[in-house]
Amino acid sequence: MDDVLRWDGELTLIRHDSLTGTSFVIRVDSLQLGQAAGGTRAAQYESFADAVDEAGRLAAAMTLKMAVSNLPMGGGKSVIALPAPRRSLDETTWHRILALHAENIDKLNGTYWTGPDVNTTSADMDILNRTTEFVFGRSIERGGAGSSADNTAAGVFEAMKTTAHHCGLGDLAGRAVLVQGLGAVGGRVATLAAEAGAVLVVCDVVTERLEWARQCGWSVVPPEAAVSTPCDIFSPCALGGVIDRTIAAQLPATAVVGAANNILADESAGAILRERGIAYAPDFVANAGGAFHLVGHEVLGWSDETVAGRTKGIGDTLAQVFSISEANGISTDSAARILARQRAEAARGAIPA
Ligand code: NAI
Ligand code: PHE
Repeated sequence: MDDVLRWDGELTLIRHDSLTGTSFVIRVDSLQLGQAAGGTRAAQYESFADAVDEAGRLAAAMTLKMAVSNLPMGGGKSVIALPAPRRSLDETTWHRILALHAENIDKLNGTYWTGPDVNTTSADMDILNRTTEFVFGRSIERGGAGSSADNTAAGVFEAMKTTAHHCGLGDLAGRAVLVQGLGAVGGRVATLAAEAGAVLVVCDVVTERLEWARQCGWSVVPPEAAVSTPCDIFSPCALGGVIDRTIAAQLPATAVVGAANNILADESAGAILRERGIAYAPDFVANAGGAFHLVGHEVLGWSDETVAGRTKGIGDTLAQVFSISEANGISTDSAARILARQRAEAARGAIPA
């Protein structure tokens, strides 16, 4: 629990529900650029401390994502630590869990806005919205922006093209792209890469998704082979913490570009990737398409065209990250943090006192 207690963020809300055996965490990392925003993740955790810790790391990633993307929001995140796998929970239990989570969000009175993340959907956002207004990504029929997944994938694809050119791979045609996780984002990233002529290698833990992949003509590898299968571009689109220092030292890829939040298990992994000449697109830059979709449509009143244009701009932001990395001899992760800080300072300077 030591790491949990030493956290530098602004606010932690925790609650437990004995009836369902569920624990709730909301963490607000920073409010410097505006109200905090970040999705709700529902998953099982080994311990409550792990869930609190994960919420903090994910909230910090949201702060960086908003800042580097020039979005006027702070960073936050919710973790719902489930008593059993999400798919095994009956509807009554799940709706009770969502109702309690919505109460928690509502008590923060707009300090924190939620949205979809792993194991939560637009339909779940509609349910939260029965209790609280502070919800992005409700279904389009209910007046929300709908799922952010397709736009997240569009941004990851832009990042993939920029990274491929940056590291000398050139176009994606004929390049081996390994997508880990064929969910809402990864499935679409794989499709976009295949349409660009890439040779797809994929993995997932859900059988139906692999059947779909085989029908698409893609090669399937077991989940445990994701980080040992040679490829040109490794695209982690499942969960975070995929690349620790040991894996960074061995990963048989030329580039890493994915949607998963917090791909690197620790900062040293980023430095090792750099030493090995592996081009890493920092996740909080590459996966900002979801934030552009939700905050753009629901806070800033952007049109579809503006959201698409800003999402395409992820490539330009990433090119700046690569330049800062090269000019200073630092990892792209460190470079992206510098760019996020510069942009946050510029935005704060522009906020009237
Ligand atoms: P999802 O839950 O739809 O997809 C995740 C996929 O990964 C599922 O198909 C799951 O079976 C698979 N998976 C889980 N463990 C695996 C393993 N060990 N090996 C291989 N596959 C595994 O989630 P979604 O929405 O596609 O998000 C994916 C990642 O992108 C998450 O880390 C999320 O935080 C991040 N992200 C999502 C955004 C969005 O708009 N949905 C925006 C920004 C980031
Ligand atoms: N959960 C997604 C992300 O990590 C989408 C999201 C963005 C949700 C902003 C809420 C607010 O980017």
